[in-house]
Amino acid sequence: MKALILAAGKGTRMKSRMPKVLHKLSGKPMIEWVIETAGKVAQRVGVVLGFGAKQVKEHLPRWVDVFIQERQLGTAHAVMCARKFLDPDDDVIILYGDVPLISDSTLKRMVEEHKKGADVTILVADAENPSGYGRVIENEGRYKIIEDADLPEDLRSIRTINTGFYIFSGRFLLEMLPKIKNDNAKGEYYLTDAVNFAENVRIVKTTDLLEITGVNTRKTLVWLEEQLRKRKIEELLENGVTILDPNTTYIHYSAEIGVDTVIHPMTFIEGKTKIGDGCEIGPMSRIVDCEVGNNVKIVRSECFRSVIEDNVSVGPFARLREGTVLKKSSKIGNFVEIKRSTIGEGTKAQHLSYIGDAHVGKDVNIGAGTITCNYDGKKKNPTFIEDRAFIGSNTSLVAPVRIGEGALIGAGSVITQNVPPHSLGLGRARQIVKEGWVLKRKEE
Ligand code: UD1
Ligand code: CA
Repeated sequence: MKALILAAGKGTRMKSRMPKVLHKLSGKPMIEWVIETAGKVAQRVGVVLGFGAKQVKEHLPRWVDVFIQERQLGTAHAVMCARKFLDPDDDVIILYGDVPLISDSTLKRMVEEHKKGADVTILVADAENPSGYGRVIENEGRYKIIEDADLPEDLRSIRTINTGFYIFSGRFLLEMLPKIKNDNAKGEYYLTDAVNFAENVRIVKTTDLLEITGVNTRKTLVWLEEQLRKRKIEELLENGVTILDPNTTYIHYSAEIGVDTVIHPMTFIEGKTKIGDGCEIGPMSRIVDCEVGNNVKIVRSECFRSVIEDNVSVGPFARLREGTVLKKSSKIGNFVEIKRSTIGEGTKAQHLSYIGDAHVGKDVNIGAGTITCNYDGKKKNPTFIEDRAFIGSNTSLVAPVRIGEGALIGAGSVITQNVPPHSLGLGRARQIVKEGWVLKRKEE
């Protein structure tokens, strides 16, 4: 089985500088949705590109075959541009770059039906409002598709629509393509004409309107986004996740969440985020592409491309940037920013810190206001803090620098040299006390 995705159209009504199929749905470009689904049922996937082909190509996996349709002369013409992809001895599924939610289960049903022997298998649906769609008309066991623009008045009320998804026998399609003409209302080469030439047509019906909805406007895109969001939340609720306020919770379809995790209001869980069991997430948190273990607490925080192990507590008001690894039972508190650093098991950084490019060991205490000075104006330098070290409050660790195991840094220090294990590091001005000095000044 092959799959050919038509995606050459400009998408004028999106009023965008970007090709339509790159617009994102639930965090992922529409074309990626289709390619992923196609890859589940077909051995090879081809894409027909036109408008913005170069830009779209950059988003495609290498294993996809790309064909170019310079001018959009119709769906049959688009398939014609990928003639080399077609094989007389193989079947081909036709899909669309702007119909992102087609499901692999429906495609598999079509494959099963098609195997029973057909020139073409069509996916149809019953639409509330069929206008704009081609209608599928049955007549004594033969099927015909008539485009909306070419539909005679007495057939307008037919509600069975052509979703545009088909499986063709490769041989049949290759024979029919050269015969298709553009003598219709739109002056286009219609792929539906190939269907109309077929003697042996099979029909599969879907009742899921989301999977056949094509995106032509931003309004439709946002509608799909909302439907998908609701569907995801329902799925999670059914699978043991508590979502306290579905109205203010945004969870990308690709995210995974374990049982007995509670999602508090105003929370965003995005990308390929995976959250374990028994966690408390939110309120007001945003978690993007993170791997989160079990029994983790994240309150009012922003987490991006980080790994958060079991029993960790984050926030309120923490910011984890890319490359952060929080080992088991560590605690990251308010106004702490961490970037490309590993924080060891049981380590605490509870208040007002910046930790960047650092390797922090186990059971370390990072005092309030500790800053790793990782940037010297030219390059980023690493900081090493070994197990059980104690960093006093308001310390600047000027990297590159190493604080040895069990070492103690006095509060307010500016540390520019390594501190050996179990040693005291102190780097600040000595305090002066002048007794009675204030009283004396008043007398003057
Ligand atoms: C098509 C069907 C119609 C069906 C509807 C479902 C035809 C002739 N009609 O109509 O029966 O009900 O889909 O949505 O096929 N494309 C190209 N190159 C082209 C033309 C189109 O790549 O030259 C791509 C477009 O980017 C789009 C898709 O094919 O993704 C569908 O094309 P469009 O012109 O929108 O077809 P419809 O008029 O909607
Ligand atoms: Ca369309």
